Amino acid sequence: MQGLLTRKMAAGVAAVVWMATAAAQDFGDTPYVQTPQVVVDAMLETAKVTKTDYVIDLGSGDGRMVITAAKKIGARGFGVDLDKRLVALANNNARKAGVADRARFYARDLFETDLSPASVITIYLLPEVNLMARAKLLALAPGTRIVSHDYGIGDWIPDQEFEMDAPGKPVGRSQKSKVLFWVVPDKVAGRWVWPVTVGGQKQQVELMLKQNFQKLEATARLDGRAVVVDEAKLTGRRVDVTLTLPELGKVIFSGLRINQALEGEMRVEGKPAPWSAVRVEILDPVHVTAPPPVIREIY
Ligand SMILES: C[S@@+](CC[C@H](N)C(=O)[O-])C[C@H]1O[C@@H](n2cnc3c(N)ncnc32)[C@H](O)[C@@H]1O
Repeated sequence: MQGLLTRKMAAGVAAVVWMATAAAQDFGDTPYVQTPQVVVDAMLETAKVTKTDYVIDLGSGDGRMVITAAKKIGARGFGVDLDKRLVALANNNARKAGVADRARFYARDLFETDLSPASVITIYLLPEVNLMARAKLLALAPGTRIVSHDYGIGDWIPDQEFEMDAPGKPVGRSQKSKVLFWVVPDKVAGRWVWPVTVGGQKQQVELMLKQNFQKLEATARLDGRAVVVDEAKLTGRRVDVTLTLPELGKVIFSGLRINQALEGEMRVEGKPAPWSAVRVEILDPVHVTAPPPVIREIY
């Protein structure tokens, strides 16, 4: 049957099914559907929310995400929603939970909201809306964690993704939910150099990093000769690179980007020593963008 539908029609049908099954109020780009409490808990756990975190929920509904973060973990934050009645309900729920000083809700469009205070962003929005918000999310401070219920952010591959039981979920037949997690990557693409001592001789490592979201593609040379890159990983501002160097074997270089330097430590056979690298050429990260999803395999 679906084979007879165009992709666009199928997307429309899927969206209507979601909205109708939710028996919920349609408001803005994304209808109101509650995240089951067990999934809220799993999302906050996945993002490793602590009491020092500032959580912003985009499309906050009855406020459960930020209220849970405040009440169970002691975090602070706010939520925004286009629906004024939900905002009033969320503020009321925060008062009832005794966390109104730490969990606030505003009637505001998420696209017009300053997200810069966030250390954690939570979302349960339709995939198209996630994709529209992507540039805003990628512009957040590197290291900001993002956790989403059910839907991805275009072709930005999550750092972590899992499915879980979601008893009481108001939509779908499977009673399952997906949790997806990202860390906003820093911009580290370019050519980095630093000295190493190999066999008593000072030589120069040159590391070329290309970046697609948080994924790094790396090549390296030691005094002009290619060396093996075993791993190149970016997590927020932290870069971890493992190279196999002559005489030294596998050496792990780990550091945080500070302006045009990477500052941290190197480990040879597990022994740490200070390490710093300098970027001598800056490249822009490439965010390869696939066309927006047209068929929502919702339920
Ligand atoms: C699927 S519900 C999620 C509610 C809550 N975050 C939860 O997980 O239980 C999505 C919410 O986003 C709100 N919303 C949709 N588009 C929005 C926008 N552009 N700005 C702010 N809120 C929006 C809707 O009103 C709805 O309450």
